[in-house]
Amino acid sequence: MKRVDDFRLRLGNKEYVPIMIGGMGVDISTSELALEAARLGGIGHISDAMVQDVSDRKFDTTFVKDKTKLYKFNINNMNKAVVQFDLDRLAEATRLHVGSTMEAKKGDGLIFVNCMEKLTMNAPKETLRTRLSAAMDAGIDGITMSAGLHLGSFELIKDHPRFRDTKLGIIVSSVRALQLFLKKVSRLNRLPDYIIVEGPLAGGHLGFGIDDWQQYDLHTIMDEIHAYMREQQLDIPVIAAGGIFTGSDAVGFLEKGAGGVQVATRFTVTHECGMPEHVKQEYFRASEEDIIVNGVSPTGYPMRMLKSTPAIGSGIRPGCESYGYLLDATGNCAYINSYNREVQASPDGKNISVFDKTCLCTHMRNFNCWTCGHFTYRLKDTTHRLADGSYQILSAQHVFEDYQFSVNNEIALPPKQEVASPSAAA
Ligand SMILES: Cc1cc2nc3c(=O)[nH]c(=O)nc-3n(C[C@H](O)[C@H](O)[C@H](O)COP(=O)(O)O)c2cc1C
Repeated sequence: MKRVDDFRLRLGNKEYVPIMIGGMGVDISTSELALEAARLGGIGHISDAMVQDVSDRKFDTTFVKDKTKLYKFNINNMNKAVVQFDLDRLAEATRLHVGSTMEAKKGDGLIFVNCMEKLTMNAPKETLRTRLSAAMDAGIDGITMSAGLHLGSFELIKDHPRFRDTKLGIIVSSVRALQLFLKKVSRLNRLPDYIIVEGPLAGGHLGFGIDDWQQYDLHTIMDEIHAYMREQQLDIPVIAAGGIFTGSDAVGFLEKGAGGVQVATRFTVTHECGMPEHVKQEYFRASEEDIIVNGVSPTGYPMRMLKSTPAIGSGIRPGCESYGYLLDATGNCAYINSYNREVQASPDGKNISVFDKTCLCTHMRNFNCWTCGHFTYRLKDTTHRLADGSYQILSAQHVFEDYQFSVNNEIALPPKQEVASPSAAA
């Protein structure tokens, strides 16, 4: 019986444990989590989502405060076109976040950064070019382009000195999206170094329709992509993601030719994950009925989350002067429209609730949007219940090694901690 450790992910001329921990913004996949994956010989992702806010928390910078001050005059104006990112400051924040992570790296693995194209930041091309370039300047090992088709992303950085030595990968959910991307980059003579195929059971945003995601299945999409790669004689590692909960699930993909697997949900309940302890306990407690896919994300993509997520129904004022990561090229965001509609419908403009969209920047930043993978309801089976009723938080090393070495669909429980940590029950 094979284990994940019997396989290796080959990137360039090096080999890695074929486990990637997926990017989880905003700072849910922390540097600490990514660094553990790299230390153990795999690949960890940080995320550049809301990087200025992440930098402020980590390094006491004042990017958000300064931006808020600059655009304070616009807070009551629902036209946000004026709220622009200063590209130099965006680059500075990215370099701080990425650079400090790279400096701390130990072991034989790699650190990648997850860059979502849907963070359009009121100037999609310019801000994306800045984000990608700054990450490469700061020595990132690789960039995973996600949440969007990224058809023009390679072109944006083609003159960067590290364009050919940084590992560049994309996330797709269909063979069609892959074909479009490959066609687009064919002119640059620069193929992606890896392709992550994300199926419908993943956490975060989904690359499927809100009404038809159930009809898709990761194994089928992987088979289609493998067939296409063979037909085109392309030798690029294809990495399966979404709903891979045990080492045996992973082996099922590796035996069929996947180069590796990308996993995330099981790491949301580790010490290294950036979510507050009480949110980790919510994830542990969740039952299958508590996990929903809805359309509240202003990106237009369906998103999976716990149905008790505080972000749903919240009618807070749009926080674009401070954040503004989802403003499109015209300075608009779907939440602003929904919020305005509710304000206009309310006689006194107070106690606003907005159910169809959510202010994703503010809520992700405050860990109030509890996005999660489909199998979150199985997390309780991966640990011990403690005397106070809370669940024991795991270490990233434990979860990583469970994926790496387990067989027979087994999940190894950690050594039992005798006393509940005071924060766990909060
Ligand atoms: C809490 C959470 C947040 C996520 N955030 C992002 C993100 O910011 N960008 C992204 O590309 N994928 C995101 N994902 C998707 C993961 O990177 C990964 O591909 C997927 O969840 C793997 O499936 P699994 O969670 O079933 O293991 C997120 C997943 C989770 C669970």
